[in-house]
Amino acid sequence: MMGGERIVVAVDGPAGSGKSSVSREAARRLGLRYIDSGAIYRAVTHFLLGHLGTLEKGESYAGHLDGLEIAQRFDPDGSVQTFVNGTDVSRAIRDELIARNIGTVSDDPGVRNFVNGLLRSWSRRESLIMDGRDIGTVVFPDAAVKIFLDASAEVRSLRRAAEYREMGKTVDVNEIRNQIIRRDQEDIARPFGRLAKALGSFYIDTSSMEKEEVIKRIIELIAEAGGPRVVDGRPG
Ligand code: CDP
Repeated sequence: MMGGERIVVAVDGPAGSGKSSVSREAARRLGLRYIDSGAIYRAVTHFLLGHLGTLEKGESYAGHLDGLEIAQRFDPDGSVQTFVNGTDVSRAIRDELIARNIGTVSDDPGVRNFVNGLLRSWSRRESLIMDGRDIGTVVFPDAAVKIFLDASAEVRSLRRAAEYREMGKTVDVNEIRNQIIRRDQEDIARPFGRLAKALGSFYIDTSSMEKEEVIKRIIELIAEAGGPRVVDGRPG
C-alpha cells in the first residue's frame, strides 16, 4: 500500500477485551482518527429513549431516526467526544439506563444499517481505527488490518472492575462477571452484526499481556500492512 492512501483498521472483540483503550492509544500515536462504534450505538439509544421514553425488545426503530445527527470527535490527546444533534452526550451515554436498553437498539437491523452507513461515510474522508463487534466482518470486510482482541471472561471482569474503581464507582466483581457473560451471549447470538472473528483477522489473546504490549502489537500489524508507522515517537 502506498503512503498517503486511506486505510481502515478494524478492531473487534468482546466487552472488556480492552479494544477501546488500546485502539485509542494506537490511533493517537499514529496520528489516525479513532472511532468508537459502541459509543454510536449508545448515542442512538440515548436519542431514542429521549424521544420515546421506553424501548421494547423486537421493535423496529429505524423509522424514528429522522432528525438524528451523530458526530464523534477524536482529539490529538486521545480523548473522544460523542454528539447527538450538537449536544455532547459523552457522559450521558455511560449511564446505566443506556446499558439496560442498548441490546434492544443494537439488535435492530434497521438501526444497524443506519449506524453502518454513518461509519462508512466517515471512512471516505480519512484513515481510521475503529472498534466494535462487527467492524471487520460487516462494516469494513475489506479493512487493511483486522484485529480480534480477546481475553478470558475472568480477566475482562477484573479489568472492568478496575476501570469502575478508577471512576470512583463501587464495584461488585461477581455482578460485573455476570454482566460480561450475559453481554458475551447477547453479542454472539445477535442475528445481524454478531461478534465473530473476521476472515483474515489477527487474533490476539490479551489475557496475560500488558496494555503496552497490545498497543505495540497493533502498531506493528498496521505498519506491516503498509499503514503509518511511529518514527521517533511521532507518526511518520
Ligand atoms: O462496554 P463495551 O466496551 O463492551 O461496549 P461498547 O463498545 O460501548 O458497546 C456498547 C454496545 O453496543 C455493546 O452491547 C455492543 O453489543 C453494541 N455494539 C454493537 O452491537 N456493534 C458495534 N459495532 C459496537 C457495539
